[in-house]
Amino acid sequence: MASVASLPSLFAAEDSTLFKQIKMKGVKALVDSGITQIPDFYIKPVEDRALEERPLVDDQVPVIDFSGIYDPVSRSRVVKAIGDACKEWGVFQVINHGVPKHVLQDMIEVGHEFFNLPLEDKMSYYSDDLSQPVRFGTSYNPAKETILEWRDVLRHPGSISPEAVQLWPEKPESYRENTTNYLKGAKVFAETLFAALSESLGVQSDYLQNILTEMMFGINYYPYCPNPDLTLGLSAHSDASGITILLQDQIAGLQVLREGRWYLVQPRSDAFVINVGDQLEILSNGRFKSVEHRVTVNKEKTRISIGILCVPLGDTRIAPISGLIDESHPPMYREVIFKEYLGHYFSKQHNRKSSIDSVRLKF
Ligand code: OGA
Ligand code: NI
Repeated sequence: MASVASLPSLFAAEDSTLFKQIKMKGVKALVDSGITQIPDFYIKPVEDRALEERPLVDDQVPVIDFSGIYDPVSRSRVVKAIGDACKEWGVFQVINHGVPKHVLQDMIEVGHEFFNLPLEDKMSYYSDDLSQPVRFGTSYNPAKETILEWRDVLRHPGSISPEAVQLWPEKPESYRENTTNYLKGAKVFAETLFAALSESLGVQSDYLQNILTEMMFGINYYPYCPNPDLTLGLSAHSDASGITILLQDQIAGLQVLREGRWYLVQPRSDAFVINVGDQLEILSNGRFKSVEHRVTVNKEKTRISIGILCVPLGDTRIAPISGLIDESHPPMYREVIFKEYLGHYFSKQHNRKSSIDSVRLKF
């Protein structure tokens, strides 16, 4: 491992020690130590890298203007656009979602401030156990990975009840206020979106809202990287959620797979990116497809994204909605208990759509 020899003192140790240190301190600490080359355990197999030769088509992910959703005349058009995007892409962007721009900006800003805190402050939330509710960590599932992802992350539940908020980080100073404002706005939007998704599936408007009652909140931090072509911020995966509401900053990095081609999700600071997750693929009996996506990193710029996973309670049974099953549409997935699904999802490194593949019924 030639690269290790060039690392300054914070990480100057044997390879295995370096690996263990990074798993606790995160990839930002590695970058801050002044590396000029990534360690070997960030180098992805060639077939997983985002190589230039592969087609990467710009800005074709649907962008849906949500302003028409409150008008009875235009509502059906918006609902149809959302349903079509979920069928054809499993992902779309929403503009005019109703959350004020300054609330989005403040969230991104305090996200940077959190990751720029001294390491000790972040480390007080450190865990490599993905089931820990409030967690600072790195990569995706470092306890199970041999090749790490170029990402640090802060996760906690998205409830804004006082009991929940008091478990959030106390620093930076504006963290709790900015995050509360963001989650308040996102929740109003999510409820309207769930109604639209339910209608597009032809079930009662509150159907999905009654299932996807919980939010998991996360801030993804992708530091600039000396060898962006060799690694990834996140490897290809679909989300275990029902849907995911993502806010990107101005820096490109998110790519989605459609019919064998990777597409860039053009950064738009005024938009939410909505991903169909595995639970919605199951509920919709495969009518909507959870989208496979990955994140590339950047040589000069640190990228941040804010994710909200809209999920059921752990004990919820998830199965194809009975109204979506008939003779020509037999159930395509077996029933799962959400926490058992998560157990499978969290037991491994990111591996494309392997979790949902494991509950697909074969004919
Ligand atoms: C995720 C994810 C995408 C991004 O957190 O699961 O896919 O752009 N994030 O950060
Ligand atoms: Ni994801």
